[in-house]
Amino acid sequence: MAQFYKLKIKDIYKETEDTSVVSFEIPENLQDVFKYAQGQHLTLKADIEGEDVRRSYSLCSSPIDKEWKVAVKLIPEGKFSTYINERLKAGDVLEAMAPSGNFGVPVEPKASKNYLFFAAGSGITPMLSMIKTHLTKEPNATCKLFYVNKTAKSIIFKEELEQMRNAFFGRLEIYYFLTKERRDIELFNGRFDDDKMKVLTKTFIDIPDTSEVFLCGPEKMVNYVSEYLVNRGLPKELVHFELFVTGLSEEDIKRAERLAKQNVEGVEVTIVDGGKEFAFTMTKEYDNILDAALGAGADLPFACKGGVCSTCKCKVVEGAVEMKINYALDDKEVSQNLVLSCQAVPTTDKVVVDFDV
Ligand code: FES
Repeated sequence: MAQFYKLKIKDIYKETEDTSVVSFEIPENLQDVFKYAQGQHLTLKADIEGEDVRRSYSLCSSPIDKEWKVAVKLIPEGKFSTYINERLKAGDVLEAMAPSGNFGVPVEPKASKNYLFFAAGSGITPMLSMIKTHLTKEPNATCKLFYVNKTAKSIIFKEELEQMRNAFFGRLEIYYFLTKERRDIELFNGRFDDDKMKVLTKTFIDIPDTSEVFLCGPEKMVNYVSEYLVNRGLPKELVHFELFVTGLSEEDIKRAERLAKQNVEGVEVTIVDGGKEFAFTMTKEYDNILDAALGAGADLPFACKGGVCSTCKCKVVEGAVEMKINYALDDKEVSQNLVLSCQAVPTTDKVVVDFDV
């Protein structure tokens, strides 16, 4: 069930001109429900001018601080981000689902791992949580952050990062790249490209010695950097990413168009959620399981409805579906029959999906 909890805003402040950091007050009785791991996100809900608007944001705080913070960057014409940046104030109430997501890797206090982080803009939020957690809990870990922003002023969490660099002196290296401001050292001007990656992998990055790589930013950057590193010998399973999707690829558009023509009318769907079953028959109105189930009266978790956040994730236990778009699940999850219900179009006459995963 899409269980939302009402949470009071403890504090809200402007981190940069267009990014607000929101911290939540978690009452004693919800502390267990809201326990989280570094890299997880919160799905938030607000009633904005009569509309139920939901978005997922990575927690930028670390679980070790017993704090719950998200950073919300203002997106032009973005309903939720405008509401947060321009109207929300301390003492207000937002609704939130329990933290979810599996972007991070488990903490290994005895290991000596070397982590690499590539972030662009607000892609820093899950990284901040991970860097702080791993460096604190793993005394032998090192972290290197390669962080792209437009200008020096727009660097989100610059102060906090610098404090961390001092606190973990010698174990945290940070390299800032600016795309709209020139600096003396050419390497640090502009986005990642072959010339830069060549220098980075020669000077700062030791691929055979890398334990995990995390990437968060626009799809183009994430795909480019991960492919570059994998082509030079980094095992693919060490790469973890979260994307900002700015546009669909040709392939996605073709698949979505093909699936839009799939006849789903009459497909018998059974949803398992909270141990209970809910059955309905699909009509022409919706092509995906999430919308069809919501339309039939089910109460299921979702946020983006765009194949990005994974809030609507479920497991196909009978029958088959095909996803129109998938920016959230990795190959391993897909091979385990996990799907994004907001993108899942049935391709058999009967489908059973389990949301208790
Ligand atoms: S609701 Fe975000 S991926 Fe389905």
